[in-house]
Amino acid sequence: MLDDPGILGCCLAMKRFCTALLLVLSLPAFADGPRLIQTAPGVRRWMNESEISELSRSAHLAGHCGGYMDVTIEPDRQPQPIAGLNEPIKPIPNQIATVAPMLREIAPQNLTATIARLMKFSTRHADTQTGVQAAHWIRDQFVLLANGRSDVTVSLFKNMGLRQPSVIARIEGSGALAKEVVILGAHEDTINHTQGGSKTGQAPGADDDASGIATLLEAFRIIAQSNHRPERSIEFIAYAGEELGLIGSRIIAMKYNDEKRIVRGVLQLDMTMYPGKTKKLHFITDYTNQKLTRFSQMLMDTYVKQPWSTSSCGYACSDHASWHDWKYPAVFPFETFMNGHNRAIHTPGDTLKLLDVEFGAHFAKLAIGFAVEMAND
Ligand code: BES
Ligand code: ZN
Repeated sequence: MLDDPGILGCCLAMKRFCTALLLVLSLPAFADGPRLIQTAPGVRRWMNESEISELSRSAHLAGHCGGYMDVTIEPDRQPQPIAGLNEPIKPIPNQIATVAPMLREIAPQNLTATIARLMKFSTRHADTQTGVQAAHWIRDQFVLLANGRSDVTVSLFKNMGLRQPSVIARIEGSGALAKEVVILGAHEDTINHTQGGSKTGQAPGADDDASGIATLLEAFRIIAQSNHRPERSIEFIAYAGEELGLIGSRIIAMKYNDEKRIVRGVLQLDMTMYPGKTKKLHFITDYTNQKLTRFSQMLMDTYVKQPWSTSSCGYACSDHASWHDWKYPAVFPFETFMNGHNRAIHTPGDTLKLLDVEFGAHFAKLAIGFAVEMAND
């Protein structure tokens, strides 16, 4: 009987299903206990919620980023090599005729409206009901903006043990390169570190990171409504659980590596509207890809025509680090140099009052340039 391939296939499928079920049942829900936290490559410790919150809070008081990764899920998984991943990027931008008209469509009032709406969720903490509602609201915006395009899919991406799902809006590529993907992302969750990372404290997160989500939605709106058909697929991702240790982005990067997907470049949009003293966008140079960063600097000069500089952020300060960890090229343009950033983040004072949407529009231009240039040879 077991020689019958039908029965054998059925047994294998059953085994796979049971293994997956066991894995889900044995994983701790986020709130249930200590988490395995990585504070530097290879440095790990089990910590509880208030210890984790203190990591980030004290680092920010000292004027730097307190980055870490929550590696509780599949802690021993290693990236597998993917053929064709490190093909060179084209030498210079060449999609000016497509990109230039799109840039004229950017409407700063849309950025303001998105941020104002997201601030209304008292918190978008990834382990709360309002955090889930915020993810659903973002999903609904993508669906509305896609306006029925048949080559766009919008989906919720569930995270084991975490209430908040990530959101992925995908414009399907056309032609030979459609299997390759270009990713733009921002995190949808917030946190209040004035009360030990509490889930109930007000966390409007205007700059951190409604600004990034607003930039993402505006770039998506313009590209989707222009009817542009990219060669590579483009994904716009709102990540869950960044503030809890890059949880949502790590799970997606890990899955894409497992599926051997060719991700040609990832743009991280986290804190894009506080102009600081210098009013200059800064490219983060650590835990990012040098060639992709260089290409993005060319995009700045071609499309944004604003001054830029470089800075460093430290280990795992935002979702770009998840992609970098899983060997995908990532770039992270940031609103200021590291020590000049918005000090109201992670407090109830992170509101629109401190932000400048005209400055934020520079990031929207960069995002559109990045998506179209990276998606088309
Ligand atoms: N948006 C910040 C990252 C950031 C803050 C970059 C200030 C540069 C300057 C992000 O949401 C954040 O808060 N990151 C945490 C680490 C994360 C793993 C929880 C941080 O910076 O402490
Ligand atoms: Zn933050």
